[in-house]
Amino acid sequence: MMNLLESLDWRYAVKQFDETKRISNDDLHKLKEALRLSPSSYGLQPWHFLVIENEEVKQKLRAVSWNQGQITQCSHLVVFCYKTNFNTDSVDDFIESVASIRNISKESMNDYANMMKGFVNGLSREELNEWARRQAYLALGHFLVSCAMMGIDACPMEGFLKDSYDDILSLKEKGLGTVVICPIGYRSKDDRFSTMEKVRFPLEKIFTEI
Ligand SMILES: Cc1cc2nc3c(=O)[nH]c(=O)nc-3n(C[C@H](O)[C@H](O)[C@H](O)COP(=O)(O)O)c2cc1C
Repeated sequence: MMNLLESLDWRYAVKQFDETKRISNDDLHKLKEALRLSPSSYGLQPWHFLVIENEEVKQKLRAVSWNQGQITQCSHLVVFCYKTNFNTDSVDDFIESVASIRNISKESMNDYANMMKGFVNGLSREELNEWARRQAYLALGHFLVSCAMMGIDACPMEGFLKDSYDDILSLKEKGLGTVVICPIGYRSKDDRFSTMEKVRFPLEKIFTEI
């Protein structure tokens, strides 16, 4: 197992995946658990994740992703979605889950629930959607590090048409919207990007010590 910084240096945004290599069910399960453990604002988890293996669906999605090869070459394509109708009922859902997991009464959490509902009610639909989309990005960051620690390759991607993804995957009717995507698998030995030096600004340029 590589240490943290070795893993983060090892990872890069894969441009070409090895199409013959597939992620095992066991590793896929671990990655799903890692995603499930992502933190979110208030712990409200306003997200849903699609894991796509189906070749036909991948082909359709590639066509609306600037024809980027990773979409079809990858082992699995993870689509990070946000809940487009997140509301106070969603807060109640969460409270129920806290009550049952921690074995406490819902009533004992009334103040807590009302505080979160106040937050939800205080935002416009678009502000709430923007908030939900930010949570999905946080899950993406968490996911990328998890993949790297497991020696699994990935490429975070924004280069695709969100509305087309929503259509192809019938997301609107499910109350979901696409945020960002991440193909995962194993790098091809022909991917010339795998050996390129990482380009990052030096510490002194991005940090201020106070
Ligand atoms: C939100 C986001 C969207 C990105 N979209 C794409 C994309 O559509 N296609 C692609 O090949 N790389 C994409 N990248 C990869 C970045 O170009 C890459 O992470 C960056 O150049 C740093 O290089 P590294 O990740 O290899 O260290 C994206 C990265 C992020 C974080």
